Amino acid sequence: MIPVTRPFLPPIEEYNTLVQNIFDREWLTNNGPLVNDLELQLKQRLQLDHLLYVGNGTIALQIAIKALNLKGKVITTPFSYVATSSSLVWEGCEPVYVDIEPDGFNIDASKIEAAITPEVTAIVATHCFGIPCDVQAIQVIADRHNLKVIYDAAHAFGTTVHGKSIFEFGDISTCSFHATKLFHTVEGGMVVTKSPDLLRRMSKMRNFGHDGPEHFDGVGINGKNSEFHAAMGIVNLRYLDDILERRRAQCSFYSELLANMDLTVPDATNEAWNCAYFPVVFMTENQCLGVKAELEKAEIFPRRYFYPSLDGVNHWGKGNCLNSHEISSRVLCLPLYHNLSFEEMEIIVRIIKRTMRYSNSTSK
Ligand SMILES: Cc1ncc(COP(=O)(O)O)c(C=O)c1O
Repeated sequence: MIPVTRPFLPPIEEYNTLVQNIFDREWLTNNGPLVNDLELQLKQRLQLDHLLYVGNGTIALQIAIKALNLKGKVITTPFSYVATSSSLVWEGCEPVYVDIEPDGFNIDASKIEAAITPEVTAIVATHCFGIPCDVQAIQVIADRHNLKVIYDAAHAFGTTVHGKSIFEFGDISTCSFHATKLFHTVEGGMVVTKSPDLLRRMSKMRNFGHDGPEHFDGVGINGKNSEFHAAMGIVNLRYLDDILERRRAQCSFYSELLANMDLTVPDATNEAWNCAYFPVVFMTENQCLGVKAELEKAEIFPRRYFYPSLDGVNHWGKGNCLNSHEISSRVLCLPLYHNLSFEEMEIIVRIIKRTMRYSNSTSK
């Protein structure tokens, strides 16, 4: 069986050594030494001034929304994981969808201004599949209209823009360290900001609003993460260079194998991209579903990331984002994980080619 992803697992002895230390200290959670060490190592690795390790990428978004005191309408992307929109709704905001670029997966910055009304307070955009949004254009619009910017950078660990970490952009960037992510801590996430004031606020929010044992500064939540999770992150960080290098080799290999076909693949030569996912966009939905079905017969499970387009989700969806609907209906993320072999990738591509040849010959 070849799933869309498998978690990276480091040598268990390395993890056990840190777990033994946790047992010796009997300090399991509540801002322990490993959480602090992970935060320090992440700051060094990503060249960031401020970040906070939190429970997951969803609570990271919720804390970011609360810390910026977002209310009313928030411009966002319809092409993302559901958590980008549901966090907004959960925090009492109304998503206003702006379509994605016609030839990409990210919010189309050139369409944002037309959607701004007096009730709009912010822009929440996703660097989908780790590919950066047009951060410069979005910041110009945000400054012109006095809007806050949150980047859902759940997929973007290791992505850069002009040599800078992607997490440097926006008022707050969030990330997910879920087990399926390129860098993970089993469950986990972070919030990143340049503002010491926002950092202080989010740090209290992460811990129930505590300002000392008997005082509270505002309303908080449990956004903390444990020593066991931090330990996994510390060990996985030792392998990050290997993971990033292998992902690029795998994405380049997929691209070569799929070259000159009637489909679109991401540009694996773009060094700024972290190669987190391998989305393939087919010419038609039928072709996409046909390929998915044939792969599944062979026990290979790509995923329709992201389907459906979030502006069509019945709980809050109110939009008509044509590009997003179009891409959602035709995209498949192919299996991609550290131990996926080049032979397995060849098998996957052989099935895709065979299915497309067959569907072309029967549609003539
Ligand atoms: C774009 C995006 N945002 C947010 C999340 C939520 O992260 P988590 O699963 O860590 O809560 C995910 C998770 O996959 C995601 O893909």
